[in-house]
Amino acid sequence: MTKETMTIYQAYPKSFKDTTGDGMGDIQGVIQSLDYLERLGIDMIWLNPFYPSPQYDNGYDISDYTAVDPRYGTLEDVDQLIQEADKRGIGIMLDMVLNHCSTYHDWFQKALAGDKYYQDFFYLKPAKPDGSLPTNWESKFGGPAWEPFGETDLYYLRLYDLHQADLNWHNPHVRQALYEVVRFWLDRGVKGLRFDVLNVIGKVDFVDSQEPGSAQEKALYTDTPIVHEWVQELKRETFGQYEGIVTVGEMSSTSVAEGIKYTAPQREELDMIFSFHHLKVDYQEGDKWTQMPFDFLELKRILDEWQVGMSREGGWNALFWNNHDQPRANSRFGDVVNYPYETATMLATAIHLMRGTPYVYQGEEIGMTNPDYSTIEAFQDIETLNNYQILLDKGVSESEALAIIQAKSRDNSRSPMQWSAGAHAGFTTGQPWLAVADNYSTINVEQALAEEDGIFAYYQNLIQLRKDYPVISQGSYRSLFLDHPSIMGYIREDENQQLLLLANFYGDPVQVDLSDFQVDLAWRKLIGNGPVEDLTDRLELEPYEVVAFIREK
Ligand code: GLC
Repeated sequence: MTKETMTIYQAYPKSFKDTTGDGMGDIQGVIQSLDYLERLGIDMIWLNPFYPSPQYDNGYDISDYTAVDPRYGTLEDVDQLIQEADKRGIGIMLDMVLNHCSTYHDWFQKALAGDKYYQDFFYLKPAKPDGSLPTNWESKFGGPAWEPFGETDLYYLRLYDLHQADLNWHNPHVRQALYEVVRFWLDRGVKGLRFDVLNVIGKVDFVDSQEPGSAQEKALYTDTPIVHEWVQELKRETFGQYEGIVTVGEMSSTSVAEGIKYTAPQREELDMIFSFHHLKVDYQEGDKWTQMPFDFLELKRILDEWQVGMSREGGWNALFWNNHDQPRANSRFGDVVNYPYETATMLATAIHLMRGTPYVYQGEEIGMTNPDYSTIEAFQDIETLNNYQILLDKGVSESEALAIIQAKSRDNSRSPMQWSAGAHAGFTTGQPWLAVADNYSTINVEQALAEEDGIFAYYQNLIQLRKDYPVISQGSYRSLFLDHPSIMGYIREDENQQLLLLANFYGDPVQVDLSDFQVDLAWRKLIGNGPVEDLTDRLELEPYEVVAFIREK
């Protein structure tokens, strides 16, 4: 299994498959779905956190790193999952949330009780002389980043929810305790590690920013040089001692230059990173909680910057449109009403044929969409609810605030997996913790598997192509049509072959002028979702049509 040829599937356990009827997915549900995932052709499954947690942030607030929340199952279930997946040639990747732990974790509870050893596990600071908070930093989930620490006159840092206390990585005891956690899971046979918000572990200067919540503020604690030292140490102390472990770091607001440092093999840090700039192209002036049609030229510019930039110095990207923190890409970038098949397959092809390791988020392979919940009560996510209130406080009307939430909420991707047209989409026999999208009667796994030429079959094909064609897994990358208002294009190339991708990102047919391009009979169609068969000087692409051609050199 190599990062070049593999495809990783992300399952969000809480919403994947419930086998107990409590309305929450569980580990046995993942085990029961392994045949389905094997059929899709994926190599590894990344599971979001299933550790004991009070669930203020759906499991990213961990109260015990080396156990399983009984609502998800037991350690034995995890062992069984690892074994059953392994029989099918599939590895298991776990989520390591090492920047912060739950305030219900023993470490924080002991610190609160006055234990100095554990107090040094956290960032505890007094107010400024004028009585204001230690810094003016904003939490990424809204509100100030400091909370009163029990009955003391200190505050603890929390870059995320107030129940997620940032861990003090400067303390070697903290680092050793976290490395032990990582080794605990590796020893059980885990083959992959996804490190949550890894590039913010290195807070160094606790100084005020010019503007709370600004990019300048994030730069104060993001990608600081010490992060690289600690990531190298993390590798040496944990996964570097095991064979064939695949690692990916989630990097908040990072840059290509940093991305190269995290992933160039000689630096001994990680295999690849998630970066998010391409998923901010529908943020008005950088503010997520706004609505705006996506900026296509900006989208292409960013993807080009990362594809070309990272390959220049041996960096490696994770390729993705979706995850548990993003609205569904097909609802966002396409037309799921009139062109559901074309939208889903076009987006998939455009990203899978790039240079990097593709990730498929649960339900993407059958064309799941945003659930479009019609009332605020249907939403559960802490970030969503905080920001809804912030919008109302700013004077935005309830209906406008709801429209923004419907477009941007993280619950869009967390609605339960649609397995069948049966009750609750076959996700649970109980009451689902988050409502199922109304379209489950037509968009579901049972239906998808019955279609010979549907979205699922298309994904199978894409995943296999990466294994069969070195030009896809290893070729160089060059963009075409960066200024074109509706076409994305690029060329992949290795010593033997060239691959050309053309994608129409909009709902009108478009003519592509390839007269400057070497169009000859050697090109043959490799994959596509529409009528185009041959490469010609003037190619007409239908709405959301994508096509890839290949030729020998
Ligand atoms: C990451 C996770 C997200 C979580 C946050 C805090 O961004 O993907 O779901 O809320 O970290 O742990």
